[in-house]
Amino acid sequence: MRIDIITILPELLTSPFEASILKRAIEKKLVEVHFHNLRDFSTNNYNQIDDYQFGGGAGMVMMIEPIDKCISGLKSERNYDEVLYMTPDGKTLTQGIANQLSTMENIIILCGHYKGVDQRVRDQFITREISIGDFVLSGGELAAAVVCDAVIRLLPGVLGDETSALTDSFQDDLLAPPIYTRPAEYKGWKVPEVLLSGHAAKIEAWREQKALENTKNRRPDLLEE
Ligand code: ADE
Repeated sequence: MRIDIITILPELLTSPFEASILKRAIEKKLVEVHFHNLRDFSTNNYNQIDDYQFGGGAGMVMMIEPIDKCISGLKSERNYDEVLYMTPDGKTLTQGIANQLSTMENIIILCGHYKGVDQRVRDQFITREISIGDFVLSGGELAAAVVCDAVIRLLPGVLGDETSALTDSFQDDLLAPPIYTRPAEYKGWKVPEVLLSGHAAKIEAWREQKALENTKNRRPDLLEE
């Protein structure tokens, strides 16, 4: 998979890819991540990429021309499955969306700033608008990092068996069951007996029941869906 991220603040985005699972995925060549500084595509001498809103109103708007130059340049080199735009008024990211994106070959992610982008960018270039929740960040970069993390960890070969994505919360619309490690007893607080029993079928049944209980208590909306 190849991910091209268009941003005015590449420095905000690089560190998540330089540690742990994402770093390893890049080293193993399971994913390529490329950053494009939108200012490099500015068409004037001031590296300007934003301007005042037509019709008045507070806040700057990201201009179409540098974005067009950047996206069109990328598209002239290869096919892209999707062009994502990170915005608080997009569709809220779910595990299902992450699963879909993880099957794609090449995607572009555009990070918004200020008031956002000229509507014509959204109309002409964007195939999917994604929010990471009902709150407003100062830009789309951290949201893009969240999407990349959720997607890259699903790519075949990125996670070992010990951290398999199949047992994650949300993967089957259920939250994960409680988990424990040694010691089996600490300050009198005990690990549930069944987990120490070595009885695989009973353990599986216990986990299923706890996953259901957790979901009922914390996220009943997931069961309604
Ligand atoms: N940009 C600003 N806020 C955002 C959010 N909640 N999700 C995605 N992109 C954003």
